[in-house]
Amino acid sequence: MNTTKGIILAGGYGSRLYPLTYGVSKQLIPVYDKPMIYYPLSILLIAGIKDILIITKIEDNSSFRKLLGDGKKYGINIEYAIQETPGGIAEALIIGANFIDKNNVCLILGDNIFYSEKMEIYLSKAQNNFIDGFSTIFGVKVDNPSEFGVVELNSDKEIISIIEKPIKPKSEIIVSGLYFYPNNVLEIVSDLKPSNRGELEITDINSFYLNKQKLKMIDFSNDVTWVDTGTYKSLIDASNYFQQFEENSGRKVACIEELVYKMGYINKEQLTEIANDMKSSEYGRYLLEILKYD
Ligand code: G1P
Repeated sequence: MNTTKGIILAGGYGSRLYPLTYGVSKQLIPVYDKPMIYYPLSILLIAGIKDILIITKIEDNSSFRKLLGDGKKYGINIEYAIQETPGGIAEALIIGANFIDKNNVCLILGDNIFYSEKMEIYLSKAQNNFIDGFSTIFGVKVDNPSEFGVVELNSDKEIISIIEKPIKPKSEIIVSGLYFYPNNVLEIVSDLKPSNRGELEITDINSFYLNKQKLKMIDFSNDVTWVDTGTYKSLIDASNYFQQFEENSGRKVACIEELVYKMGYINKEQLTEIANDMKSSEYGRYLLEILKYD
């Protein structure tokens, strides 16, 4: 059966965060009470994706494996691959080609953090777009669009162009690091040429679908929190945001153990084992609380 596979790209040097990221991969540093990668992983889970490839730098691979293993304890499948040098986001699709096989793919950047009560609705829309062969990207409004892929919209809010890091951006809407592509993306990426910065650009893939009128954008500007974790300030802002949110709501965001339990991928015994392992942390005790009331 044709399904959607998930890829988390967790490569890159994280050089904007040096010296934080000399000794540890950016996607493993904490955002409040959990490693950063939990956030994109939770997005894939909310999209109903159970088959996931994590792409890392060679030296970080064992740390990710130590954290998440083969996914069995979460009732999912996690595989790993290496990106030798940062060759661009689109390269993840080449590295993951065998893993994707005949399926659709959802690619998410390991340092992109999204949160919304409506996330499930948005992601199922993206999954449904596959039925007619459409790719889906997600737009967010930012103050510094020239640091991203920027979309130009006409008065009907249709995309006219997507330009990577323009000096004079045509809008404040940028393409965030979450992409849903049908299987034919593998053909497109295999023909892609590196850009001036020597990378296989995801923007070129998106532009290809745009030109073929096979691209849809879901607007995340209004009710999705999107955090760029590229600076010290944005990183601590993200931690503060989720601390506040979790304290006020009494719920955890991107709690993958809770998600897989609620989705029925693991049972009570399995969650108990995970929670007991962490019972000396507040995070572990939160999991034990869930079990109490279930
Ligand atoms: C990349 C993409 C850009 C996108 C951004 C989202 O930027 O090239 O189009 O808007 O991720 O995080 P980069 O990380 O290469 O600067």
